[in-house]
Amino acid sequence: MNALQKDLKKLTALVEQAGLPEDSRRLRFHLMPPVGWLNDPNGLCRFRGEYHVFYQYAPFDAEGGIKFWGHYKSPDLLRWVQCPVMLYSDQPYDVHGVYSGSALCEEDGMYLYYTGNVKYMGGHDYIRTGRGHNTVLAYSPDGMTLGWKRLLMENKDYPAGVTCHVRDPKVWKQDGRYYMVQGARMQDDAGALLVFESENRLDWKHINTIQTAEPFGYMWECPDLFELDGRWFLLLSPQGAPRSGPGFENVYACGYFPLEGDFRGACTLGTFVPLDYGFDFYAPQTFHADGRRLLVGWQGMPDADYTNPTAEAGWQHCLTVPREITCENGRLYQRPARELEGLREGAQEYRFDGAAEIELEQSSELFITGNVQALTLPGLALRRESGMLKLEITEGGYGRTCRTAPVESVRQLQILMDTSAAEIFVNGGETVLSTRWYPADGTRRAALQGSGTATVYGLRPLEITR
Ligand code: FRU
Repeated sequence: MNALQKDLKKLTALVEQAGLPEDSRRLRFHLMPPVGWLNDPNGLCRFRGEYHVFYQYAPFDAEGGIKFWGHYKSPDLLRWVQCPVMLYSDQPYDVHGVYSGSALCEEDGMYLYYTGNVKYMGGHDYIRTGRGHNTVLAYSPDGMTLGWKRLLMENKDYPAGVTCHVRDPKVWKQDGRYYMVQGARMQDDAGALLVFESENRLDWKHINTIQTAEPFGYMWECPDLFELDGRWFLLLSPQGAPRSGPGFENVYACGYFPLEGDFRGACTLGTFVPLDYGFDFYAPQTFHADGRRLLVGWQGMPDADYTNPTAEAGWQHCLTVPREITCENGRLYQRPARELEGLREGAQEYRFDGAAEIELEQSSELFITGNVQALTLPGLALRRESGMLKLEITEGGYGRTCRTAPVESVRQLQILMDTSAAEIFVNGGETVLSTRWYPADGTRRAALQGSGTATVYGLRPLEITR
């Protein structure tokens, strides 16, 4: 252990032990930073029977600072252990941040691929000059402790035509080889996907660059390429995509391209589909476990003009709940992982025809089937309007106002409402809206319009131990 790592460890322990003041906005069933700042989920995997969720963690600054990999693990997605930070920025090649990446689980341990961020001193723009985006591998024999780190690729190893922005490696094994995709910003300011291949996890060769026919944004962050039901999908968080219409109202988009062909050679990207129509959803990552594909996203948005009042209280942001994704008619559907049903308690059933009032718990799940015209919740309103579902933040939005999603009719709604985070799944997960909002404490009523059945469950908090 070097002196920098030693100091960072000590300082992290100090701020975590000091903790936070009581705050009713702290989340009950969403993972959040113990203190400070959280962004992207990283290294999601199931390893030796346990789920691991790493995340971009800046414990010293709730407005974002040097990024480490924070760490939670769980046997069942309900009982979590807050583990020590797995990766600190303690090497010359990652000294200004252990940026996002992924996990490859092998017999002999966990292989964590990430971007080591370095910003050199001088008058740089940090896009074309002045930034090192290094591809780094960290090995852990047990998923808890760090064995070693090794620099695999640096700027000079990337293909011609890229800027300094090449990051967020996602790695998997296929046909006896290893593949890695990274997001890139090209010199002509078009986003691109770089594909690499390796036989031994250490030596990587660039084998393909995938782009859209017309540029779609200037930088592709957090790519994730996978097969589901015989089809291939490229999940992306593109920066600079056109900002117009439902699903493109946030500063950065987030969604997927269907990919036709072989990513190793000739292939094309179809039409980009937004994954979420709310205010706060970015940088999702998926992984395969127990015969299904799970997704976790960051319930936040970089560079947004809306804010989170919790930053003043020493913490900011959370992850989405784990979502199971399926492919239906060539589209991705998202539903809360079935394990979350284990948090339910005290079901209340309502039949409604016209208007109905519903009592909520401090954190609740609403499961509604039928024809829903409108729903108001504390600080939130959902309304059907000319082929759209409109989400309005009526109170405590801190700059969040209104978002829309193309929804012809609402036949089913599943809403997970935490103290300050809501995830709204429409029509069996065909459309999703996720947002943070900060309603006044104590208002726990919902009003429904339409006809059907509503079930309200209280949701127990996750069990988190240290
Ligand atoms: C996305 C992102 C990634 C980067 C990380 C740094 O939110 O910008 O591209 O690796 O966050 O925290």
